Amino acid sequence: MPPRTLRLLVLIALALGVSAVIAWWQVERELTDRRAARSLSAVAVGGPFELVDHTGAAVTERSFGDRLLLVYFGYTYCPDVCPTELAAMVSVLDLLDDEAALVQPLFVTIDPERDTPEALAGYVDLFHPRLVGLAGSEAEIAAAARAYRVFYAKAETDDPAGYLMDHSSFIYLMAADGTTNLAVFPHGTPPDAMADAIRVALAGV
Ligand code: NI
Repeated sequence: MPPRTLRLLVLIALALGVSAVIAWWQVERELTDRRAARSLSAVAVGGPFELVDHTGAAVTERSFGDRLLLVYFGYTYCPDVCPTELAAMVSVLDLLDDEAALVQPLFVTIDPERDTPEALAGYVDLFHPRLVGLAGSEAEIAAAARAYRVFYAKAETDDPAGYLMDHSSFIYLMAADGTTNLAVFPHGTPPDAMADAIRVALAGV
């Protein structure tokens, strides 16, 4: 075999090996996400909260009538993860069409220092007219996050004004009582899968 052919074969074998490892890693990560979703669903996630919406009105988990709650915790300065998940929530609402009226999308900030109701008002408006932003004091946000087992922390930075937040990223589907968890969707769950799960939940009401 000429050396050039051999080199080519080695390169192809290497490329195949690398793509196999990447594929395995992606499958493994997806399985981990699904396992995380299942284990979160199996325990009691969510609970009562006392927060302020983006118009400045006091709200609790019971403020949204008979609607199911679709809850996401994040912050307006988030460069990528939060906008992606909020866009996915908007896609879910679009897919649900008329049934979207039976679902209340909520965006709870984990950055109460910068995300005032006013800041949230401008932000949620970028995504959907029905998306409600929730703010609160540090203690109120901490209590809500604790109820939902949401992790968040300020990332280390040299720039105190431009800090980023580390945070877990799950979308929670809650029953109309506001405290019973129906499903937990890991980051990257396709909107049609979320819409399907919501339709099943709505059919069971
Ligand atoms: Ni984020």
